[in-house]
Amino acid sequence: MIAVENLNVFFGHGLTRNHAVKDVDFTVKKGESFGLVGESGSGKSTILNCIAGLLTHWTGRIEIGGARLTKTRNMAFCRKVQMVFQDPYGSLHPRHSIDRTLKEPLKIHRLGDANRRVARVLDEVGLGTKFRFRFPHQLSGGQRQRVAVARALILAPEVILLDEPTSALDVSIQAEVLNLLQDLRREKNLTYVLVSHDLAVVSHMCNTLLVMNRGRVVETITRSQLKNGTINEEYTKQLLVAGKGYDRTAIDRFQDF
Ligand SMILES: Nc1ncnc2c1ncn2[C@@H]1O[C@H](COP(=O)(O)OP(=O)(O)OP(=O)(O)O)[C@@H](O)[C@H]1O
Ligand SMILES: [Mg+2]
Repeated sequence: MIAVENLNVFFGHGLTRNHAVKDVDFTVKKGESFGLVGESGSGKSTILNCIAGLLTHWTGRIEIGGARLTKTRNMAFCRKVQMVFQDPYGSLHPRHSIDRTLKEPLKIHRLGDANRRVARVLDEVGLGTKFRFRFPHQLSGGQRQRVAVARALILAPEVILLDEPTSALDVSIQAEVLNLLQDLRREKNLTYVLVSHDLAVVSHMCNTLLVMNRGRVVETITRSQLKNGTINEEYTKQLLVAGKGYDRTAIDRFQDF
C-alpha cells in the first residue's frame, strides 16, 4: 500500500542546513499498522508530512497503492490518505461545531448526503449524534480525538497517518482511543502509519516498527521481537528502557547515539 524509497529531507541552507531524514526506506502492506518510533527530533513527523503532502521539498520515491506521488497532490489522493494529529484541541476549529467540522471535508470533495454521513461516522467513533452540535471546548480530550478520527474517516480513506494520536491523552483514555483505532482498521481494512515515542503504544498497535535516530533508520523490528526482547541495536534497547519511565540509574548509563 505504501512504499518509501531513499527518502531524504533537508531543512534550511548553508551552515544551518539540517539533514532531517536520511535515506529512509520502508514498505507497508494493505491493512497493516506500521509504527515509527524514535526520540524527539529523529524525523518521524517529517516522514509522515512527506507522505501526506504537507512537505514538498523531499527527494526519493513515495508510492501509495502502486502510484508514484508527485509533489502536488490531487483531490483523489487527499481522499485516500488522511492524517490525525497529536493535539485534537489544536487541530479542531474552536468556533466550529462538530457538525460543521465534519461537513467541511464533504463540501470540499463535493460529497452529498452530508447529514447521514455525519451521523454514521459519529456512531462509528462511539460518540453518537448527541455530540453533533457541540463545540470542541464542550468535549473531553478523548472525545475531541474521536472527532479528529471521525473527520479523517468521513472521506472513507484507505490510509490514515497518525502522528502521536494519543500522547495528549490520559493513560486510561489512551487505551480506549487505541482500541477504537484498532477496531476501525480491522473493520475497514485501513492501513496505518503510526508515529509514537511510546513503545508500549506502538507494540500494542503495530506488528512491524521502524526505529529512527537522527533521521536514520536504526532497525526494523517486529512486535514479537519487542516482546521477547530479542533486539540487536543498543539504541533500541535504550529506547525500551527509557519507555519504562524515569529511572535514575538506568539514565546515568545511557549512551549518546
Ligand atoms: N518545518 C521545519 N523547519 C525546519 N526544521 C524542521 C522543520 N520540521 C522539522 N524540522 C527539524 O527536523 C528534525 C526532525 O523533526 P521531526 O518533527 O520530524 O521530529 P520527530 O521525530 O517528529 O520529533 P517529536 O517526537 O519531538 O515530534 C528536527 O531536527 C527538527 O528541528
Ligand atoms: Mg513529531
